[in-house]
Formats: sequence, C-alpha cells, structure tokens
Amino acid sequence: MSELITIKLPNDMHVHFREGNLLDFAVNATAEHFHHAVAMPNLKDPVTNYKKALEYFDQIDSVSRYSHFKPLVTMYLTGDIKEIDISEGALDPRLIGIKLYPAGVTTNSSNGVGNIKDCYKIFEWMEKYDLPLLVHGEVNNPETDIFDREKLFIDELISITQNFPKLRVIFEHISTKDAVDFVKKSSDLVAATITPQHIILNRNDLLSGGLKPHHYCLPVVKREIHRKAIAEAAFSGNKSFFLGTDSAPHYKNQKQSSCGCAGIFSASTALVIYLEAFDKAGALDKFEDFSVNNSTNFYNLVKTDKKITFKKEQFEVQPSYAVGDQEIIPFMANQKISWSVAKEL
Ligand code: DOR
Ligand code: ZN
Repeated sequence: MSELITIKLPNDMHVHFREGNLLDFAVNATAEHFHHAVAMPNLKDPVTNYKKALEYFDQIDSVSRYSHFKPLVTMYLTGDIKEIDISEGALDPRLIGIKLYPAGVTTNSSNGVGNIKDCYKIFEWMEKYDLPLLVHGEVNNPETDIFDREKLFIDELISITQNFPKLRVIFEHISTKDAVDFVKKSSDLVAATITPQHIILNRNDLLSGGLKPHHYCLPVVKREIHRKAIAEAAFSGNKSFFLGTDSAPHYKNQKQSSCGCAGIFSASTALVIYLEAFDKAGALDKFEDFSVNNSTNFYNLVKTDKKITFKKEQFEVQPSYAVGDQEIIPFMANQKISWSVAKEL
C-alpha cells in the first residue's frame, strides 16, 4: 500500500486561462483539481473594468466541466478604473481584486501602469472598500538588469503599504529572498504567491547546459540562495505565503522561438510537483496550509468539504498536450514525479 495524503481541495491563487482556443483547455486543466482559481486579466484585450471582469467570469464558468470549481476574476489596473468598479466589485464574491502590471514588464502588459503614484487615488478606494491589490512586482525600466527587477520594485511596495496600511497586497510569484524578507516583515495584510518553478528551479536550470525555453517565465528564476528562501517560506506554513502556480500556456512554437514567450504551463501537474518538493523537505504536514488554508483565510474564501488524495506512486508527466492544431509543452514534460493524484472525494 503506497503512502497517501488527503487535503481539502486546493486553491490556485494565480493562473492564466487566456481566451479563444486556449480557454477551454486551460480552464479545465486547472478546474479538475482545484476549488478556486484566480484568473489573471492580461488578455489580448485586457479585463480593465468590472463589467469585462464579469464577462470573463461567465466565459470561464461556461467552459468548466467541474461543478466543484469556483473561478475568481481580477481587473487589470489602468488609470480608467472608476470608484464604482471598486465599490460594486468589492461586494461581488466572483471578483477578487485588481492586478497591477507595470507597463511592459510581461505578456500583454503594454496597457499597464506607467507611474504607480498616479494610481494612489485608486488605491485609496481599494483600501476603503477592501478590494485586494495583486502585484506583478518588477520594475519596468528596460535598462534595469532582469535579475534585479523584483528586488528594486520592493521600494514601490514599501511606499504603497505605508501609504495604504489597510490595503490587502499580494506580491505575486515571488522570485527573490528579498521578496520573502519583505513579506515576512510586513503586516498580516501583505502576502505572496509562490509558483512550483520558483521552488524547484534556479537560474542554472534555465541557462546552464543548454537554454531551456520551458523554464523561462517572468519573474525569471534566480540564484540558488533565492530559490532556497522561497522554498523555505512555502514549507514553513507561514500564513502569508500560499500557492499560485502562474500556469501560463503559450504554444510550443511561441516558446521554442528566436524570441520565446515567458510563461510555464503547469496547471495539470503543479500539485504533485509542489507535493514532491514538500515531501523531500519533510514538510508534508504544511502542504494543506500552503495550498488551501492560507489563501482561504487571507481572502476569506468560501470553504469546501471536498478533498483530494495523493498517493506516493510515480507519475510521468506527458510530453505535450494538443490544443487544436497546436501543442503545449507542460512543466517537467517527460519527467518522473514521485507523487500522483489518487482520487477526489
Ligand atoms: O511568465 C509569465 N507569464 N509571467 C507573467 O507575468 C505573465 C505570464 C503570461 O501571461 O504569459
Ligand atoms: Zn502570471
């Protein structure tokens, strides 16, 4: 009999479902094993107001094949957000927050924010109505070294959290020890999501012994000292750190290209990848906090009695998925993971 672990159905607090041909595939890859998932708003036509957020919610909900799955949507921060988007949105359990992309930092972020101080009026409304701010925390100066962009963004977060002490702020997909330290020092209203790739990869895994396009994401994976700090934060069970895969599908020909897209598709396998890392660290007892309880408490999410069981039995990640006439290569394609999903209860 192999070892088993059962937890409440997890929440993925950061995922990209895209639009068009990818939507159905991406939604169901997540919906199969998650209770909630927070859909990022960086579509080609970004989700820039409350009305568009509800339209996107409906699109996601209508393609989901799993009744246990409860999607959550976000609005993309621009100077055009109105107070009514926030006052009404904050009361709507389908909308979880507003996502700040510094203009140009990543995929479909050209409509993002130039000067963050110009958004302070909007942050004031968000603080007043208690609508969380989700942040892609990298400076957007193209001359700044790509490995320093997250660390240098922390000054912005210090200003935001000092000026709006009651605003809930989530530092998304943290990639540095500096980000871990910042979140630990901050109030309980500041949290961070952690991806599987930032727990298990360092920059050698991206760049040494051949360039690995399927390990390329933003923020880019960093030195070992950073990977270790992020992994330890996740394994600690600290309530300010929770699961957010940042699963971000791009077609194979857009990844394996002379100018490859940033993004790692992990939706269908992220849970067992995290679980293997927790197991190796002797932290299986903290896995449920990281993947369910911490996010449920931080965001006051609806609870579920549904559970998922994993068994310690080897599982091989499939080489690719067909989507229409295109292919998506998953994170850790063809590699063996020591845990697999046993059953959902
Ligand atoms: O690697 C990434 N991919 N990072 C992001 O911030 C965006 C995402 C995407 O949308 O492809
Ligand atoms: Zn993302």
